[in-house]
Amino acid sequence: MSDTVSYTELGLANTREMFKKAVGGGYAIPAYNFNNLEQLQAIITACAETSSPVIVQVSKGARDYANETMLRYMALGAVRMAREMGSNIPIALHLDHGDSFELCKSCVDSGFSSVMIDGSHLPYEENVKLTRQVVEYAHQHDVTVEGELGVLAGIEDEVQAETSTYTKPEEVEDFVSKTGVDSLAISIGTSHGAYKFKLKEGEEVPPLRFDILEEIERRIPGFPIVLHGASSVLQEYVQLINNYGGKMEGAVGVPEEQLRRAAASAVCKINIDSDGRLAVTAKVREYLSQHPEEFDPRKYLGVARKELIKLIKHKNETVLGSAGRA
Ligand code: G3H
Ligand code: 13P
Ligand code: ZN
Repeated sequence: MSDTVSYTELGLANTREMFKKAVGGGYAIPAYNFNNLEQLQAIITACAETSSPVIVQVSKGARDYANETMLRYMALGAVRMAREMGSNIPIALHLDHGDSFELCKSCVDSGFSSVMIDGSHLPYEENVKLTRQVVEYAHQHDVTVEGELGVLAGIEDEVQAETSTYTKPEEVEDFVSKTGVDSLAISIGTSHGAYKFKLKEGEEVPPLRFDILEEIERRIPGFPIVLHGASSVLQEYVQLINNYGGKMEGAVGVPEEQLRRAAASAVCKINIDSDGRLAVTAKVREYLSQHPEEFDPRKYLGVARKELIKLIKHKNETVLGSAGRA
């Protein structure tokens, strides 16, 4: 295999067909982040066993961690593993939060079937220009592109409720038509990580801004929308972590019923990273605490992988609605 490889040679699919079906079918494609073997095995096993299309995604940091060449062959291995399980689910390999043309190009050249160019922090016209440049290159290779408008709030900056950070619906038509992107990530109140909302005693998680989502949908009907920062931060894992020596006070995420509502709308890709991290950390902490004599990584990573499979099946079946849609 040469240094430059098309994703089709790896048996991967781009996201075009997946999104078309998801938008029409009222469900969302899961996009699970991974950095290592056990996470990828768990994602593929759970999605093959639930017959769910899947996007496996890699951040810039994950790509540095895992190694670019290793990732290509992991993706090839993931596809083969699914096929050996007798499953024909479509699998996309996606760059999450690409921050430059060069990084996106390098991913296209090394076998990714989809890339995100995140110009959301740039002034609007610069975001359009950069995104357009990535689309022009990626489309020559039939690789799909996700762009972003609006900035996901950080818990620490206290501007979570300010409309300026949310996607401006009046910009979406112009952005989509000028850039040619295949999907659009928006900001409607989610944020990355395990501390999404700062809640006072007795306070409930504020609802996502479905009014903004509906306005976006009205302006670009049928266009695939992506929701980042969509982990639910399941409290059973937070408690396990805290019970076994961890310290994650105040960790809170997006309630599952809100994600279900989003998945039934124009949102056709839902990004989940933190929930997987929590499941793995909870199980590793619990196992090592209960088996202090153990030092075989297969033991503690094995229980973590098993839990991750359970979690992903649950997401596909009862939250995103992607189970049985492959
Ligand atoms: O959106 C961010 C993802 O959760 C990836 O996080 O940059 O720590 O790999 P990372
Ligand atoms: P979470 O941190 O909520 O899992 O979001 C992940 C994400 O958006 C990856 O791009
Ligand atoms: Zn994200």
